[in-house]
Amino acid sequence: MLEIKNLQVYYGVIAAVRGIDMHIKRGEIVTLIGSNGAGKTSTLNALVNSVKKSGRVIFEGRNISTHPTHKIVREGIALVPEGRRVFINLSVEENLRMGAFNNDENFERLRGRMYELFPRLYDKREQMAGTLSGGEQQMLAIARALMSEPKLLMLDEPSLGLAPRIVGELFEVIAELKKSFPILLVEQNAFAALSIADYGYVLENGIISLEGESEKLEGNDDVRKRYLGV
Ligand SMILES: Nc1ncnc2c1ncn2[C@@H]1O[C@H](COP(=O)(O)OP(=O)(O)OP(=O)(O)O)[C@@H](O)[C@H]1O
Ligand SMILES: [Mg+2]
Repeated sequence: MLEIKNLQVYYGVIAAVRGIDMHIKRGEIVTLIGSNGAGKTSTLNALVNSVKKSGRVIFEGRNISTHPTHKIVREGIALVPEGRRVFINLSVEENLRMGAFNNDENFERLRGRMYELFPRLYDKREQMAGTLSGGEQQMLAIARALMSEPKLLMLDEPSLGLAPRIVGELFEVIAELKKSFPILLVEQNAFAALSIADYGYVLENGIISLEGESEKLEGNDDVRKRYLGV
């Protein structure tokens, strides 16, 4: 469904992503794991063309490499950026409304679906988003992205700063979502990410150092030592 060929991102002379290839198939969660500064966020930004890049991005057979960001979003690729950017002065419900701005006729149906997926958000639907807990804000950021009914969802470190129990809760929902569309999950939390992903890529200094089925990566000695701390 998504094919990435020789993707490169340079900030001036700094090489953040140095020619990576990736594939995401329907029905899959694919994770991109790596430590701070490995180039994960740069990769996602390159895929939606919000940073300068080279290489090819093929989505559903179409070359979208040079499409502007808004067009890529309209094609059905949704990115939930790092740091849960919700509208802090709007209520939960108003945030969902914003997410459905180009899909207003489906608002009622999708809102119901979001509250099913995230019952905590239903309980807090009138609350200002800025006063939600970190975990609730992350759930809202994802729910808001889903209001556009994407064909592919990309998540940038959804577990960042959340307590392990909340990560577990959130990742159960993410695992459920792959029935509807494939997911590219960027994470530093390799343990959580590999536990729900089908396939994984390990990014180090802008290069894919290792890839494979999640179970294989979980069993790999290098991955265990460097990313799983066991
Ligand atoms: N706008 C920018 N200008 C210059 N250098 C940048 C810019 N954005 C990122 N970089 C550099 O590119 C490299 C990759 O950064 P990136 O944000 O993609 O890493 P990351 O894997 O997402 O890290 P983290 O886990 O900390 O979010 C880093 O060395 C970073 O300092
Ligand atoms: Mg990042």
